[in-house]
Amino acid sequence: MALNLEALGKKIGPIIKDYTWKDTVLYALGVGAGFSELEYCYEKNLKVIPSFSIAAIFEFLTHIGINSNLNLAGILHGEQELIFHNPIPPEGSLITEGKITHYYDKGKDKGALVVGESDTYHSTGKKLFTSIITVFSRLDGGFGGENAPKKEVVFPDREPDLVVSASPSPDQPLIYRLSGDIFDLHVNSEFAKMAGFKMPIMHGLCTHGFACRALIQSLVPGAPEKVRRLVCRFTKPLYPGTPIKTLIWKTEEGKAIWRVVNAETGAVTIDNGIFEYGDIPEEKIRFDGRVAIITGAGAGLGRTYALELAKRGARIVVNDLGGARDGAGSGSAAAADKVVDEIKALGGEAVASYDSVSTPEGGGNIVKTAVDAFGTVDILINNAGILRDKSFIKMEPESWNAVLDVHLNGAYNVSRPAFTVMKDKGYGRIIMTTSAAGLYGNFGQTNYSSAKMGLIGLMNALKLEGEKYNIKINAVAPVAASRLTEDVMPPDFLEKVKPEFVSPLVLFLCSEKCPVSGNIYNAGMSCFNRAAVVTGPGATLGSQDKPETLEGIIANLDKISSLKGGKEYGQLNDQIGDVLSALSKPLDSKVSAIGKQEKTASVSAVFEAMPASFIKSSAAGVDVVFQYNISGDKGGDWCCVIKDETCTVKAGKHDKPNCTLKISDSDFLLLMDGSLPAMQAYTSGKLKIEGDIMKSQLIEKLFKR
Ligand code: NAI
Repeated sequence: MALNLEALGKKIGPIIKDYTWKDTVLYALGVGAGFSELEYCYEKNLKVIPSFSIAAIFEFLTHIGINSNLNLAGILHGEQELIFHNPIPPEGSLITEGKITHYYDKGKDKGALVVGESDTYHSTGKKLFTSIITVFSRLDGGFGGENAPKKEVVFPDREPDLVVSASPSPDQPLIYRLSGDIFDLHVNSEFAKMAGFKMPIMHGLCTHGFACRALIQSLVPGAPEKVRRLVCRFTKPLYPGTPIKTLIWKTEEGKAIWRVVNAETGAVTIDNGIFEYGDIPEEKIRFDGRVAIITGAGAGLGRTYALELAKRGARIVVNDLGGARDGAGSGSAAAADKVVDEIKALGGEAVASYDSVSTPEGGGNIVKTAVDAFGTVDILINNAGILRDKSFIKMEPESWNAVLDVHLNGAYNVSRPAFTVMKDKGYGRIIMTTSAAGLYGNFGQTNYSSAKMGLIGLMNALKLEGEKYNIKINAVAPVAASRLTEDVMPPDFLEKVKPEFVSPLVLFLCSEKCPVSGNIYNAGMSCFNRAAVVTGPGATLGSQDKPETLEGIIANLDKISSLKGGKEYGQLNDQIGDVLSALSKPLDSKVSAIGKQEKTASVSAVFEAMPASFIKSSAAGVDVVFQYNISGDKGGDWCCVIKDETCTVKAGKHDKPNCTLKISDSDFLLLMDGSLPAMQAYTSGKLKIEGDIMKSQLIEKLFKR
């Protein structure tokens, strides 16, 4: 199976990992922390060991393997560099995006190096760390690529300045693996023997965590937030229970060189370590060089966005028709002009635009104003708005259309020409202004609610078109005192609801730092949260050739309606994927209207179909027996014998299999339909392979999917 060099440069992620304080404490215990470093182990005033970062994004490593088609029997973590931009908070979500940056060839029998680089942001939007990981793939060399450039770390010619001794427990891998790396090599004696070790070995990253603690204790005691960079190369495996020493040389202000040795033999287990430390300067988000269009910026929320963006360096197009609250009248230049003057008085740059968003010509002119004045558009906040509230019977077409024209069509009219400019330059941020009235409903606002929810549909589709051009589109449902809300909020309440309580979130979504696209946020009155469309797991009813009955739907309504275990989809295809994989699973055991139990098996169907998908031309010289042990209700044992270019599949156990694959019935079906990649199944422990692991690599070659 050859390396897939085409994966070079292709985006990996976003990979999202939710974590709580318990995950960070579990990691700390896994790398040897205890009562003497209670700051890592006790939820009060908890701090996170910075090396938690790489354990938390372990899935990125899996993606490098899957995307590159690495021969999983020969992969090792080669080198690791971590650059810290902000301390890791004790809970939240981590959002990781990255790519494979290099494939290096050490030679046919020497292996390949695969380098992946990723950036991880916290759900607060802060960039936390950059990881540069080098995977050593022992069995994938000889593809004709260049060798990796030599990296040297020069160790001072003197005894180390500091030595920290530690004694990882013989059971250390059993704790460490609970942080994500559940690879058999660190737990299963038989597997370890097959891989050439006398027993399971320590995770290299566990020893790395011990070293990180030692470096913090020695150089920035009690202040993990001062770790700036941690680099190393993994050189030799270590057996659990072996004492270690971290040797540290201080080389310059804020920098040390380090390595970890086996304290019994002196063998170097982690080498070429670099540790940089010091205060992390607070990062100020700026918009210098960026051009922002804000529609409806002559008052209310739009004015505040314009002023705040200008204060941070953006050049602004202040668009406002200057019309009445209900959109009536021809408007006036005064609203936009006033805000332009305010920005100029602050030392900023701005131009006015008086066009209405409600026509395509108006939208085109607004974007043209930006391009003529400042040469480009980087940010668009679709904010202009009017209200014409009426109960539905009284909602005549004029009021319906006027509101849809400003909010929904207005966003289309301006976003389209702006998107063209952004696509050409490969950068853009678009904000849709939605509303709780659309997200949740509000009496007397059928026109407004429809328009505001329409904007979510526009965002959902456009985010997919913008993805490859780095155009991110998000939506905000604000709550603020303005002309639109003056008669729906009590006057004393209005005083406390300033647009300034909304604008920080909007500015974040407009910034280069924004890692998300397609998200909806409520913002106002110091309260920020995310809203989403969530789909429940539901039920798969009826059968392939017989639709469910009306009575059957009623009997299963609780299950169909439940949102428990619901999930968010990034796009329609993901949802269809789930529907298709639900169809390939056994149908729900259900109480039908006539009280009958129905079930359909499909694992056995996969084995029945196996000989038909056999590729004879790939089987020359292959002589192998695969044994499948499928657990679960629909499971069982099947063996597949490949010999003399034929394939025979039988239920039951073979007495001399070369390679045994163990997996649950549901994971097996996902594996077969391609929704669970084999590498992921293996590294996550869902698929266990015993016997000649190399033979399992043949399966992909021998069978059509
Ligand atoms: P606002 O009335 O103070 O500002 C809206 C601005 O849009 C006005 O200056 C108006 O002249 C301008 N505008 C209206 N039609 C226009 C057109 N065709 N072309 C160009 N400009 C036009 O209202 P506010 O509250 O600042 O609203 C801003 C956005 O936030 C609106 O989309 C509104 O629906 C939305 N929103 C506001 C909430 C709030 O609590 N204030 C709640 C939920 C949503």
